[in-house]
Amino acid sequence: MINLDNFFRNFNLYDKETLFDIKSVTQIDYYNHNLLAIPKYINEYWTSKQRQSNSLHEVSYRACFKPQLPRFFIELLTNVDDIVYDPFSGRGTTALEASLLNRRFIANDINPLSLILLRPRVRPPKIDEIAQRLNEINFNQDHKQDIDLSMFYHEQTFKEILSLRCYLIEKKSNDKEDYIDHWIRMVATNRLTGHSKGFFSVYTLPPNQAVAPESQIKINTKKNQKPEYRNTKEIILRKSYELLKDVTDSVRKNLWAVAENSIFLNCDAANTNQIQSNSVSLTVTSPPFLDVVDYASDNWLRCWFNDLDVNDISKNLVMAKSLDKWIGFITNVFSQLYRITNANGFVAFEVGEVKNGRINLEEYVVDIGIKSGFTCAGIIINQQTFTKTSNIWGVKNNTKGTNSNRIVLFKK
Ligand SMILES: C[S@@+](CC[C@H](N)C(=O)[O-])C[C@H]1O[C@@H](n2cnc3c(N)ncnc32)[C@H](O)[C@@H]1O
Repeated sequence: MINLDNFFRNFNLYDKETLFDIKSVTQIDYYNHNLLAIPKYINEYWTSKQRQSNSLHEVSYRACFKPQLPRFFIELLTNVDDIVYDPFSGRGTTALEASLLNRRFIANDINPLSLILLRPRVRPPKIDEIAQRLNEINFNQDHKQDIDLSMFYHEQTFKEILSLRCYLIEKKSNDKEDYIDHWIRMVATNRLTGHSKGFFSVYTLPPNQAVAPESQIKINTKKNQKPEYRNTKEIILRKSYELLKDVTDSVRKNLWAVAENSIFLNCDAANTNQIQSNSVSLTVTSPPFLDVVDYASDNWLRCWFNDLDVNDISKNLVMAKSLDKWIGFITNVFSQLYRITNANGFVAFEVGEVKNGRINLEEYVVDIGIKSGFTCAGIIINQQTFTKTSNIWGVKNNTKGTNSNRIVLFKK
């Protein structure tokens, strides 16, 4: 096993020296006020390689991390066929990256959209299969419209979206939805709203931050815009090409093989009895942060399209309003993590910067992890450069606390 302290301290792949600090995190034993010396390593450990990630990752999800983050820890700490787990899987960045590196995965998220986004990307169809299926679907059906989305869509576009929605609902209720339908559902879910002609809607926020109809009416007035027709079938096919750009036949074969031996779960991360004890080699995850992101209301349109009840999701999602509640929840999650992690296994637990850095969640996490039985190998801080996406939407980096990567690394 490599000497991690040596590795993090002497890391200089991008000609930057590691900043090392051991003093600033010494008094962190939250409950007992014992002194703990936890090393803190700061460097650019993975951002430079950003552009090398597989095209399959390119779907949007609030507060997702970059594929380079899980890749870094998976390559460092696991071997082929090991099990990599993410209890808060989101769009499935950890699971997909684990698959691409031939590790098995367990992906859990309480939000059912997570499965919709991940499953087809670890079992990708061929582009011809998608094109053929799109041609078989009747995109011009007459369905009763039970919701007014005219502020987002041209009448004909909406007819097509509704036709696809009904097709998918029927397939699912007859238990006939296959991997190609799963793929089309995933892409359509991602194309519902956005800022360019590559989306079904008039200019608006992306589908993972869908605005309410009333707000869209205001956006339309302000921008003096009206929804134009968008060819949904063409948009789905184009996005499919983009997503599959890096998926060669051998990559596809590998992904399918890994997915066969992997597990998708849709439960509370603090309650994961289905996962075998001592089975996981590495967890790479990022939990819901205090009350920074409201996944359920951000996703109302995606929920409508997928026939999911947004209120059910809101009830289950953790949006801890206070630090105490958050600590309570994460403590329960860690007791599960300790149980399922195998001897010498690891947990890489990412926490963003919340409340403009006034709360250092990583220090609480160190304490919780140690109390659960883990040894803390240190806090790894990846020096961030600004991301493209956040600038497009006029959202300033670091203002919402989800952009800085601080990872607490634990060993069992
Ligand atoms: C910060 S996001 C994770 C994003 C992920 N790393 C990615 O790259 O997409 C946190 C996730 O936690 C999920 N979540 C919230 N409460 C949960 C709970 N009690 N159990 C499991 N998942 C939960 C949310 O649905 C959200 O997808």
